[in-house]
Amino acid sequence: MALRRKLIAGNWKLHKTVEESLELAGQLSAGLKRDDLDVLVCPTFPALFPVAQRLKGTAVKVGAQNLFWEDQGAFTGEVSGPMIKAAGAIYALVGHSERRLHFAESEKTAALRVAAAWRSGLTPILCVGELLQERETGRMEGVLESQLAGALAGVSTAQAGGLVIAYEPVWAIGTGKTASDAQANEAHAYIRGWLSYRFDKHVAESLKILYGGSVKPANAAGLLNQSEVDGVLVGGASLDASSFLGIIHAI
Ligand code: PGA
Repeated sequence: MALRRKLIAGNWKLHKTVEESLELAGQLSAGLKRDDLDVLVCPTFPALFPVAQRLKGTAVKVGAQNLFWEDQGAFTGEVSGPMIKAAGAIYALVGHSERRLHFAESEKTAALRVAAAWRSGLTPILCVGELLQERETGRMEGVLESQLAGALAGVSTAQAGGLVIAYEPVWAIGTGKTASDAQANEAHAYIRGWLSYRFDKHVAESLKILYGGSVKPANAAGLLNQSEVDGVLVGGASLDASSFLGIIHAI
């Protein structure tokens, strides 16, 4: 089995002013005690550049929570891949369920954003995950398949190895309900199997699949010790340095 370095990512969502973001970034870089895994934070757009400046030369990397698919032009309110890259980010979340729910993100727009991220030199973290009702009616695999197939339609096998996928069951996001370790591992195994079929075995074995949904210090070790779980994408518990560091240092 390929050795995949773990990635612990914080999604700050719509939280924290620039000043608060800088404070949290400083606390994280000061408190980080290990270099055997990758650590990432995704602040709001106004905080992206200052946080990247603050974290320059540290082990904490910076990502954006979204990106637009055109590089520039008359698109009021949007932020593009090249702008995000120039601000110091190296990752971009794509297709988060909150974007699907509130901002009409679809497989088609997720595919455009994945392509824009590659073009700009950013690693896309493609978020997929089923609703509770979809899981309960036996449709989890079908939902994951259509989200993956749609968003990765234009991705070549050569590119795919560098992708990151985040499995975030919608029923576990911000609800306090975490998928059990076994449920997470099983969904990740399904995703990896699909990637092996769509691309090839080498790609499937090399790319990282993160789990997201109510991850906290108390449940992080169990999840991170699963064979198919290559890291976590953390919302609420990433807003406080001690809890995010607790997750980072959990295993
Ligand atoms: P949560 O969010 O950890 O607050 O559940 C996870 C996410 O949405 O990425």
